Amino acid sequence: MAIKKPEYILAIDQGTTGTRAVVFNHNARRVTTQTAPLTPIIPQTGWLEQRPLDIWRSVQTAIADALIQAGVRSDEIKAIGIANQRETTIIWNKKTGRPIYNAIVWSSIQSQDIAEELAKQEYSELIREKTGLPLSTYFSATKIRWILDHVEGAQELADAGELLFGTVDTWLIWNLTDGEVHATDVSNASRTMLFNIHSLEWDDELLTIFNIPKSMLPAVKSSGQIIGNTNPMRFFGGSVPIAGVIGDQNASLVGQLAIKSGMIKNTYGAGAFMMLNTGHHPVKSEQNLVTTIAYQIGDQPVYALEGSVFAAGTALQWLHDELDIVDTQLDAWEAAEASKNDDEVYVVPAFNGLGAPYWDPNARGAVFGMTRGTNRNDFIKATLQSVAYQTADILTIMADEYDGNIHTIMADGSVSRNPYLMQFQADVTGVTIKRATDEDTTPLGVAFLAGLAVGYWASLDNLQHLIDDGRKFYPAMPIQHRDVLVQGWQRAISATRYFGN
Ligand code: G3P
Repeated sequence: MAIKKPEYILAIDQGTTGTRAVVFNHNARRVTTQTAPLTPIIPQTGWLEQRPLDIWRSVQTAIADALIQAGVRSDEIKAIGIANQRETTIIWNKKTGRPIYNAIVWSSIQSQDIAEELAKQEYSELIREKTGLPLSTYFSATKIRWILDHVEGAQELADAGELLFGTVDTWLIWNLTDGEVHATDVSNASRTMLFNIHSLEWDDELLTIFNIPKSMLPAVKSSGQIIGNTNPMRFFGGSVPIAGVIGDQNASLVGQLAIKSGMIKNTYGAGAFMMLNTGHHPVKSEQNLVTTIAYQIGDQPVYALEGSVFAAGTALQWLHDELDIVDTQLDAWEAAEASKNDDEVYVVPAFNGLGAPYWDPNARGAVFGMTRGTNRNDFIKATLQSVAYQTADILTIMADEYDGNIHTIMADGSVSRNPYLMQFQADVTGVTIKRATDEDTTPLGVAFLAGLAVGYWASLDNLQHLIDDGRKFYPAMPIQHRDVLVQGWQRAISATRYFGN
């Protein structure tokens, strides 16, 4: 009898701060997780860039460490899945494979003038109709335009068909296949502001408005299908199918198995990204949420309403890096629990402006409600609360725009480890928070997609037994008190915007 060799799924999670490579076994348990950090480049206030070759190297390092730690050979990997920081924009030369500029990271606001000019020309509504997105520097299109405007000769090369654009997934697929495959998935395409989420095609009218030649754009595939095989020279001797590709925030939705219409997840990482699964129907937001493609398996995409909060973990990082008043996550939890004030302090962490539903790049951070007695604990608590308030703002709109009841938010992401935050989140939203046991659901989500595409697992509906139930936090705050707190937050937000502009 032939002995069957063991098989695993390799998930790559290429995020803003670094790369993780996770090897999963058939029970969806991690065999190993290896990380490689990325160094940010900040050329000016509000700008954020990365070197594309650093991104690629960090992926190679994380994969190599993961295979070594797991004791797994490349030919024992059944499929690879790639989840990536979305919107981040890379342009490279088709012949040489060399990037013509740094990767412009999703949160970078250097293309603000371009966005403002398009808004003046009244393109906002057209863009929202076609792409589901508000006109913002957040998405890739203005970043592409910025690179073509600022790199000498770039527009001519683009027009001659010599440049390629990709979000980070596309860049990694290109490198893993040694330039064979130039592709992305619908979830990433839907973050470019060039993709028509109804016809599921690159939109010619938008390409003309942005003056971006179609030849730069990748082929668009579903999120779970084999889109190419690794070149053995690029993947430790193995030719392995790349079978799952999806934006990282979307991957966590799949990792939480929030796969039915009406299910919501919120990932608390550097930012916080809440997504409500709306099934096969895009729900148009009248109140500035994003209509986006969550994922696609088979022929039809699954849509979502999304609210993006730009500063969540970043705000806690600021307490650590700049104010030096917390050391660890545990510190922040203890301080918040130890605070004795009446929640009258509000921190608005609008470091890079505000995301949904305000989309205000000019807003700047502020603190309100301090008294002579305000202390460190109160300040830390207010910063944690700001994450919950921003999320509550979005949930209020989602509940209004989605025709159905919302009872539970499925929480994940590193900052969701903080029990104070989870309880306060339940209190200010009035809904139950169900936190994943393994709060890092992004790699699992893309591993599921890749595994399903190669028959490693049978069906998405059949995976529930592979994930644990998680911990629930129930709302406990009296409604009157909640209303007073939320009104205070609304006043703080308005004052911040007034000040910033
Ligand atoms: O939309 C931005 C998001 O995809 C970035 O994710 O977790 O890598 O900061 P993250």
